[in-house]
Amino acid sequence: MRSQLFAVLLLVVTPVLSVPTPGNDKNDDDCDIRVNYPDSIQAAIDKAKPGDKIIVEKGTYKEQLTITKNGIHLIGKNAVLVPPTPYKNNFCSGLSVDFPPPNGTGLPTEAGICIYNKDTNLAPYQRELQHRKIASMGDYIKDVTIRGFKVEGFNGENIAVIGGQDTRISNNQLIGGYQYGFLTVGSKHTVANNNIVTITPFGFIGMCMDDKADAKFKENEVSGYLIGLCGETSGGLMKRNKVSDNCIGSFIDPGVKGLKIIENTFSGHGKFCPPEFASGLVIQGAQDAQVLRNTFKNIKNDPGKPPGTAIFVDNDAATGLKATGNVFKENVFVDNDFDIFVNFTEPVNTFKGNKCSKGSVPASACTS
Ligand SMILES: *[C@@H]1O[C@H](CO)[C@@H](O)[C@H](O)[C@H]1NC(C)=O
Repeated sequence: MRSQLFAVLLLVVTPVLSVPTPGNDKNDDDCDIRVNYPDSIQAAIDKAKPGDKIIVEKGTYKEQLTITKNGIHLIGKNAVLVPPTPYKNNFCSGLSVDFPPPNGTGLPTEAGICIYNKDTNLAPYQRELQHRKIASMGDYIKDVTIRGFKVEGFNGENIAVIGGQDTRISNNQLIGGYQYGFLTVGSKHTVANNNIVTITPFGFIGMCMDDKADAKFKENEVSGYLIGLCGETSGGLMKRNKVSDNCIGSFIDPGVKGLKIIENTFSGHGKFCPPEFASGLVIQGAQDAQVLRNTFKNIKNDPGKPPGTAIFVDNDAATGLKATGNVFKENVFVDNDFDIFVNFTEPVNTFKGNKCSKGSVPASACTS
């Protein structure tokens, strides 16, 4: 049935499709610089002028890249970026830090691609903030695009953007980024779309927006992390992502306002998760989120562990910030341990038209 459908689709679609050949994409013929393996990608970036398009041809490149020029478009054609041995220090060194012993080394980590403006300064690392924040900056680094790369196995972030404006991260495979697959900090208008972000056996955070404004994560596939999507940007958007087999699908931080979580699918549960971590979406002391038309499927904890909860809403004890004004509408729940749990009694959030299968506390979260 499926292959028949596919055949029909192909018949209909083929005449207008031209299959892109790696390294010979019609749209990419106008590139300014071409990197052929084993040439250095960083050397090409250093040579590029602001606004240049750099095509990187097939090969496995052992480099850590830094981009500090506006308008660099870095496009991979079956290009794989992996860590050099040993790592080198650069601006993103210690942007995040490994888990403390006994689970990790407690040491600063390194990024695969580090995008920043040279006038930016980072604040010291504080573990409770999970990554360094911007202490001071001059201008944003503008219009950087990373597309078509496979970035694999960095112990910090596979890709990090610090103080970016209009950064676009598209159609990449970000594999095995241990602290983060992708992290954007202090930026505006970051768009990360159609990326595959995954790790085995597990890592800390798949994709995180900790931006000033208007971050968008769309149509990414995120799996294998303690937290799939982390929301620390007021007004940010998470739309149509497939978030599967994480411990917590998405975590929205205390004080974050008006985040939009729309039409995502949250499913499954990672094998290596701590017992208390089994949720599709956690809203902790965040306000005015719009949680619309998402599907929560098979959010289940291991037998004998606390039940997995598709949506968990709580105030934040540490900061005293309350979860208020959040709207949960027309979400669909399939085969979870439990559908919605609100861990306080004040009716300060709105639930409407949710299609539950297991139930909620309060009951009205599923029935109104
Ligand atoms: C629910 O809230 C209570 C107190 O307000 C807290 O002690 C408890 O840890 C919360 N439950 C969860 C699962 O976080």
